[in-house]
Amino acid sequence: MISLTNVYKEYTEDQHVLENVSLDVKQGEFIYLIGPSGAGKSTLIKLLTCEERLTKGNLKIGNVDLIKLADHHIPEYRRQIGIVPQDIVLLSHLTVYKNLVYTLQAMEVDRKLIKGKALSALEKVGMLSFKNVFPTQLSIGQQQKVAIARAIVNNPKIILADEPTGNLDNKSAIDVMKIFYQLNQNGSTVLMATHNSTIVNTVRYRVLEMKHGKVVRDQMEGTYGLATDYRDMFVI
Ligand SMILES: Nc1ncnc2c1ncn2[C@@H]1O[C@H](COP(=O)(O)OP(=O)(O)O)[C@@H](O)[C@H]1O
Ligand SMILES: [Mg+2]
Repeated sequence: MISLTNVYKEYTEDQHVLENVSLDVKQGEFIYLIGPSGAGKSTLIKLLTCEERLTKGNLKIGNVDLIKLADHHIPEYRRQIGIVPQDIVLLSHLTVYKNLVYTLQAMEVDRKLIKGKALSALEKVGMLSFKNVFPTQLSIGQQQKVAIARAIVNNPKIILADEPTGNLDNKSAIDVMKIFYQLNQNGSTVLMATHNSTIVNTVRYRVLEMKHGKVVRDQMEGTYGLATDYRDMFVI
């Protein structure tokens, strides 16, 4: 479903932000992407969303070869993936429901289907009763749920999320994670960058650990591995 082969990415010459990354993700997998800041997690996600283009290598998602994908086909490609970006950007002058309608209209979804899709997405994230509320009236956790609803509004098979619980308290983080687990159980492939070691260690899925632009660990039902990573810092 997602296949990277010898992928390199540099923003400036001679500085590999991703170096020779190869990995395969099967349909229906749930993957935690972990690693220190600057490891390249967001860059990897941005290559998959075509927000950034790779420097060298091969990258395929489903039948789409992202190397060959022309810029003008990127919007159409993005409609098939759900993107939960690091920072929540909801339109503050529109209600929760209208935010989703706006997204569906931008995707040029058939007008007759828009209402049903918007309401169904809000139901999936438990925010249906907030449909007529404006984003500023919601907690950050609730806003994140709406952002997830927006990402899944057109039933994408792949969901990419960049630290979706980064700004949330524990309770909201668990609520938000439950949504992702549910979406995965309903068949979506989920790739999520996260720093939340408790979540990674508690609900075990495949862990991809990155360091200095390389995948240094690929472990089924993996752990966060915090003890190993930071051991040096505690030597006195
Ligand atoms: N647009 C950019 N231009 C130049 N360098 C960038 C850009 N985005 C990220 N980087 C650099 O790429 C490296 C990886 O960043 P990033 O993918 O954001 O890592 P992570 O998400 O793991 O923290 C960092 O050294 C960062 O400074
Ligand atoms: Mg990042």
